[in-house]
Amino acid sequence: MIDGFGRTIDYLRISVTDRCNLRCVYCMKEEQQEFLPSGELLTLEEWVRLCKGAALTGIRKIRITGGEPLMRQDIVELVEAISNIEGIEKVVMTSNAVHLAPLAEKLKKAGLSGVNVSIDSLDEKQYCRLTRRDVLSDALAGLAACGKVGLPVKVNCVPVAGENEKELLHLAELAKKYPIEVRFIEMMPIGEGSAFPPVKNETIRKRLEEVYGEFVQTEQDDREGPAVYYTNEHFKGRIGFISPVSRSFCHQCNRIRMTAEGKLKLCLHHPVDCDLRELVRSGAEPQKIQKVLQERILQKPRDGHTTDEVRPMWKIGG
Ligand code: GTP
Ligand code: 5AD
Ligand code: SF4
Repeated sequence: MIDGFGRTIDYLRISVTDRCNLRCVYCMKEEQQEFLPSGELLTLEEWVRLCKGAALTGIRKIRITGGEPLMRQDIVELVEAISNIEGIEKVVMTSNAVHLAPLAEKLKKAGLSGVNVSIDSLDEKQYCRLTRRDVLSDALAGLAACGKVGLPVKVNCVPVAGENEKELLHLAELAKKYPIEVRFIEMMPIGEGSAFPPVKNETIRKRLEEVYGEFVQTEQDDREGPAVYYTNEHFKGRIGFISPVSRSFCHQCNRIRMTAEGKLKLCLHHPVDCDLRELVRSGAEPQKIQKVLQERILQKPRDGHTTDEVRPMWKIGG
């Protein structure tokens, strides 16, 4: 459907758990987080009914996020059930890939059409410093498994000033070797991320050009989301830049979000809009959910220029 500013809203991101097996320094604290009790998370059946309502409003693509979505024991069944909803054309996931290797094939068979894998460094010690967990080899096994079963991959890397800057070229090399996308994301001042100054994507592009020569911007498809992609003659894949700090993409925003406890977020940077869990838990049919969603989508704010949001990233799902 079209929102109040003429934007087609056809992309829903659902955070299916707030738990994560990593503790990335710009996202979570090391100490025990106050995760939601499991009874507060939407169940598989509740997510499916909600997504059916969303499909009726015109949602065509659903991205499953977290926390880390693979922390859910029923993740394969969830992907399968959402993929089978009439009107849903694409189900994708954002994951740190640590638990992905044994699940990649099952997820693909269940209908998953791609994974955005977060890896900030290919150096074991540094990966461990950034994520506070010594599991780079598992994440790389997850990445390799995607290649093996034919799941398209985009690698997400958040440059952290003074930390993984030397590793960025190594990560970019993945797109040189393989036909995948490697994307650099400017640090957003959300939650723990506020403590780190963003590394501007323009700086990274220049560094890449010094080593590999010119990177040419590919034609921008507004539906491709916030990333801007570049090709280079030596690269099989593409390099993408997501620059929330230096470039606003609100005018082409096509997305809404649900938090793990069933709250609707109309914009990443705005506080939650309304609680849909009560509605879903009361047994509401998809048509009823559709009606409420349609009303709310009309209220989607024009842009993210607010400092009101205080939720950390792991409670939003990116
Ligand atoms: P696709 O376009 O479907 O591949 O998804 P994506 O790139 O939006 O998804 P992903 O989960 O990989 O997110 C990558 C980064 O983009 C994360 O850091 C997100 O927080 C950021 N991002 C995604 N959507 C938005 C948005 O609406 N606004 C801003 N500022 N950042 C976003
Ligand atoms: N700024 C930018 N990206 C972030 N991510 C988590 N926190 C931040 C932040 N403050 C990234 C993760 C993952 C994606 C979903 O969001 O690294 O790749
Ligand atoms: Fe987990 Fe992603 Fe946050 Fe890292 S950035 S702690 S992988 S939710």
